Amino acid sequence: MALWGGRFSGGPADAVFALSRSVHFDWRLAPYDIRSSLAHLLVLESSGLIKKDDAASIRTALKQLSAEVLNGSFKAADHDEDVHSALERGLTQKLGPVGGALRAGRSRNDQVTTDLRLFAIDHMLEIALLITKLNSAILAKASEYIDDSAPGFTHIQHAQPVSFGHEIAKHAQAFSRDLDRINDWFKRASVSSLGAGALAGSSLPLDPAFTAKNLGFESVFANSIDAVSDRDYVAEALFIFATIGLHLSRIGEEWSLWASTEFAWAKVADEYSTGSSIMPQKKNPDMAELARGKSGRLIGNLVAVMTMLKGLPFAYNRDLQEDKEPLFDSFDTLLLVLPAVTGMISTTDFDREKMALAAPTGFSLATEIADYLVRKNIPFASAHEAAGKCVALCESSGRQLHQLTDIEFAEVHPSLDGGVREVLTVSGALNSRITAGGTAPASVAEQIKVAQLNNDSHAKKIADKQQAFSEMMGA
Ligand code: ARG
Repeated sequence: MALWGGRFSGGPADAVFALSRSVHFDWRLAPYDIRSSLAHLLVLESSGLIKKDDAASIRTALKQLSAEVLNGSFKAADHDEDVHSALERGLTQKLGPVGGALRAGRSRNDQVTTDLRLFAIDHMLEIALLITKLNSAILAKASEYIDDSAPGFTHIQHAQPVSFGHEIAKHAQAFSRDLDRINDWFKRASVSSLGAGALAGSSLPLDPAFTAKNLGFESVFANSIDAVSDRDYVAEALFIFATIGLHLSRIGEEWSLWASTEFAWAKVADEYSTGSSIMPQKKNPDMAELARGKSGRLIGNLVAVMTMLKGLPFAYNRDLQEDKEPLFDSFDTLLLVLPAVTGMISTTDFDREKMALAAPTGFSLATEIADYLVRKNIPFASAHEAAGKCVALCESSGRQLHQLTDIEFAEVHPSLDGGVREVLTVSGALNSRITAGGTAPASVAEQIKVAQLNNDSHAKKIADKQQAFSEMMGA
């Protein structure tokens, strides 16, 4: 059933209908569409535009429809254009012409973006909760390895030894920034557009602030033209998801590398690995690879929506219908990836001995020699030069730094004595980096504690918002 037949001599051509149709993907907005219709009904009723008894029967029918949508007994039909027309068909089938009364003072232009905002808020909360769970898994895993050392890398070359707990815990910082971004996003996403009409507002005595409150929005539109055109909240959500995707992809890369035979640091659990159809010995870290690979589509969805929005004239244009599939796809992708990565992290074990043995190799303690000299008031540039000479000496004679003799040290630099060997140990190097955020186990333990508290407070805020949202949806 089309919502706009009056001035046309016939129905749309098949190709037009096929291209216009969005109900096969926007049907998932149905619960939000019904809920916003209930809010709209309330203002139409309280302003006397719909009679009380008509309003009561529309309300009953909407609630019935809502249950039928939920249990699948009411579905979109092939001839429905979009979710709004399908639901209006459902309503008129129950009520006759009265079912069309809700269209007063409302256009699909303000309706669709209201629905999409509700959808986005609901699903963003779900993603946020999954991120707090992922962060808990990261921090729990990090706690297990606070006292274990491993080489830290720059340029994938041994740089300085680090606490392996520090190495794992860094990911929680990235996801915590994502949670902050999500938290901030609500300000701009939780804005009601209902009452903006097609673009100019309404001549009917509606109360957009009332509907906004009824739907649990934090605020209401300030400009009706902007209200029907604004999809910043979609683009921003997609940016947040793309960034989460980037963070997941970097975990994926790390896990794949660490699980390789060459590294052999990570033992990914069987239930988070897959085999090969031809090579019976293979155990592949496919979850890590998919986490890395899926980031491509998350970025693609962001680019698709931003490209669609670029240069788009205000107010509503049909191009805007293209906002939904990328958004839905990014939500769906993360709903799949986040639990898999969380499980993969929780169940991976690391080879402490292998990492500890590797920690001092590659002359990763060379900086300690430079710092030792700096503590003896040697300018860092000269200290750096001297430490470099020690490395060269070791390389040419196949030794480690602590194996140089006192005479050799003294030849490299007069202030370099055998006392330097005390700092040429991994534990000495780690424990000396005691500043906040550094790799000393004591600092790492503190860092993890603060991150966990921060994560708990995010989780609490999200749970409160989810509770309020589900109460609003059920009202
Ligand atoms: N299906 C449309 C969309 O998703 C609904 C709005 C249609 N509005 C219009 N003026 N044709 O954007």
